[in-house]
Amino acid sequence: MIYFDNAATSFFKPEQVKTAVSNAINKYTANPGRSGHELSIRTADIVFEVREKVKDFFNAKNYNVVFTKNCTEALNLAIFGTLKAGDHVITTCYEHNSILRPLEYLKTQGVEVSTLFVDVENLPSEIENHIKENTKMIITTACSNVTGDCPDLNAIGKIAKEHNILFLVDGAQSSGHILIDLENSNIDMYAFAGHKGLLAISGVGGLVIKNGIKLKPILFGGTGTESENLTQPTDIPEGLEAGTIPTIPIISLGAGIDFLSKNFLKIIKIEQNLTKYLINKAKKLKFLKIYSLDTAKNVFSFNVKDLDSSLVANVLNEQFKICVRAGLHCAPLVHKKLGTTIQGAVRVSLDFFNTYDEIDKLIYALTQIDKMS
Ligand code: ALA
Repeated sequence: MIYFDNAATSFFKPEQVKTAVSNAINKYTANPGRSGHELSIRTADIVFEVREKVKDFFNAKNYNVVFTKNCTEALNLAIFGTLKAGDHVITTCYEHNSILRPLEYLKTQGVEVSTLFVDVENLPSEIENHIKENTKMIITTACSNVTGDCPDLNAIGKIAKEHNILFLVDGAQSSGHILIDLENSNIDMYAFAGHKGLLAISGVGGLVIKNGIKLKPILFGGTGTESENLTQPTDIPEGLEAGTIPTIPIISLGAGIDFLSKNFLKIIKIEQNLTKYLINKAKKLKFLKIYSLDTAKNVFSFNVKDLDSSLVANVLNEQFKICVRAGLHCAPLVHKKLGTTIQGAVRVSLDFFNTYDEIDKLIYALTQIDKMS
């Protein structure tokens, strides 16, 4: 099989990650932060180390890391933990349902939402134009999971800072694929998934939160701290991590980050070259409708003429053994902008282990599908 569905989850996991998982099962199965014995402390120490690795990887020295079960939960924590009736939020049509659905619910609770339907390069100026007195938060993805297009985070972060507005970034697709610098981009909160570009096993995500930001918890329960207290502790991360945290996925995340950190610039270059190669080849196929910009990162979307995207994905899977994702990719508004709500789009999402030969095979398969249709 050729795996081009890395935006859904990365298929390749480095040996270091596999070894870390198997070591963790043998060594780090005690509950971190709950008991005072040696085994519990050993596990708590390694979890602490991974928090530090996350902070280093995203240049987030003055931040806290709250572990969650996935990126969706991290985004929910940032959104529900901050917004209240009367607040105004600016977001974009490029967002995933993990942002759109919480905001849609909050609209029923008196939160005002402006969703911008503009090209990615116009987002900074349009965001600035929509700022009002009650604008509390700007929310944007770092890279669209549908088109691979990436807003200018530095420009948006600068605007957010100038207007004293919280800036929340969805890093589900960007993490492990592009350089993210929270301090320099003025990002207040950054949500990530472990199992995609960061190469961890599934079961862990997180929210990186600038020091000083207070969030209301969305989950209440045991934290291993202030046990005599019936109200939820407010300390970060414990107060926002009720219940036992997923130690083994967290340890795998540490190993994934170690792997990436050693060669990150090289990995980014490989991925950029592969994406460029794919886009250039695809642009020569006149029967393709292409939705990604030339500058797209790792993710590339298209349709074959008017064929339903799911049909094309099924043929790629069954006849050519190529895994892609079709449909709306849980991001319906970007399809509204692209005019692909009915047809959906075929999405190819790359990782550094993919090869030029695999891309050639995809291009060949698409020419065959064109001939069959
Ligand atoms: N959000 C993931 C995707 O884009 C699952 O496929």
